Amino acid sequence: MTDRHDLPAGFRWGASTAAYQIEGAVDEGGRGPSIWDTFCERPGAVKNGDSGRTACDHYHRWPEDIELMRELGLDTYRFSLAWPRVQPTGRGAANAAGLDFYDRLVDGLLAAGITPLPTLFHWDLPQALEDEGGWMQRETAFRFAEYAALAVDRLGDRVPAWITLNEPFVHLVYGYALGIHAPGRAMMLDALPAAHHQLLAHGLAAADLRGRGLDVLIANNLTPVRAASEDPADLAAAEAYDALHNRLFTDPLLLGRYPDLSAYGVGPDLHGSVRDGDLALIAGPGLDGLGVNYYNPTRIAAPTDPGLPFAEAPVEGVPRTHFGWPVVPDGLRELLVILRDRYGAALPPITVTESGCSTDDTLDDTFRIDYLAGHLDALARAAADGIDVRGYCTWSLLDNFEWAEGYSQRFGLVHVDFETQKRTPKASFAWYRDLIAAQARRTG
Ligand code: FCB
Repeated sequence: MTDRHDLPAGFRWGASTAAYQIEGAVDEGGRGPSIWDTFCERPGAVKNGDSGRTACDHYHRWPEDIELMRELGLDTYRFSLAWPRVQPTGRGAANAAGLDFYDRLVDGLLAAGITPLPTLFHWDLPQALEDEGGWMQRETAFRFAEYAALAVDRLGDRVPAWITLNEPFVHLVYGYALGIHAPGRAMMLDALPAAHHQLLAHGLAAADLRGRGLDVLIANNLTPVRAASEDPADLAAAEAYDALHNRLFTDPLLLGRYPDLSAYGVGPDLHGSVRDGDLALIAGPGLDGLGVNYYNPTRIAAPTDPGLPFAEAPVEGVPRTHFGWPVVPDGLRELLVILRDRYGAALPPITVTESGCSTDDTLDDTFRIDYLAGHLDALARAAADGIDVRGYCTWSLLDNFEWAEGYSQRFGLVHVDFETQKRTPKASFAWYRDLIAAQARRTG
């Protein structure tokens, strides 16, 4: 293995979470309902009928959680703000109690020497906005910009960098196209306006943030796409999949245009949702960093049924996480090289905003240690290749509510007993702590 210490001086070590996955307290402090509260009520939607109603009770236990982060020696903590805590119905004046919660959290982090890196939207749309059409409505982008401004008015004096959206691809596909996540709509390709409206929301908020001298990132779920063979049909399918999963969410930001989606029978206006000037709004503010959420590569073959121009093929011959996701650490390096080759000078510095794995319910998570070591090694090799990588936030600090999988997938460095809320650091916690400390000693 390459020496992990090749990561550049000033590299930032972090961990990530998201509001609905850890906070609980869904009825407290004036919070309004989100689409996830509603979705979890739908019979069969979430494994074991689980919900984020209590989750890790982080809303009450955040001081203890900051203490864990301090022990880890984190530089950065990536978390998300629950829009329905800040604006219970997704519009209008801020709910003071909601902002007070994040204000205390930010101050607590700063007191512990940890830089807060908030995400403004990690999938928990206020239900009132979903009732008006959610991200299928253009108006939601403007509501988002208004909400973002309220959050930044309150916290922007202490929070230097902001992530606008988490994984608009996954929200589009799981939430709107397939209905596996909230809001549970199964619109297939008709959902594409929900991609454009999320990106428009990003652009509007980003302009405001940058106007205030703050840094802006977006956290995209990205995957290196591998064709199942050199057969032209497989290669064409891989290209089509790449356009949907990756390029749809980076080309407009970095190049100011949408990729060719003609393989899907979709024109450049994404079902009429793109208006004149929108792409300038999306790309215009620029990005101070690209957040990369990497979990695995994707193998793609020619379509087997007529609805889509691709079929997913299994990645074979590699270990799998408890979730069944293939473990391919070098895929992270491969992905960053693809991004560099594709975007050249337009590619902003990279922060890995999510990387991690679910394991069995164990404290002796050597599987996770190997996973993290492998991915950090791949990242160091990308850095050695000249790619500007600034930080790594592992998913996740705590075991938490894993969306449609409920509590069945444990991603944390810290074990959570969901009956008692007892936190117990796993073996990976000590490993990550020691790695961060060694890096700090090396770079002084
Ligand atoms: C990502 C999500 C994050 C978490 C991980 C496992 O897609 O952004 O909330 O669920 O997957």
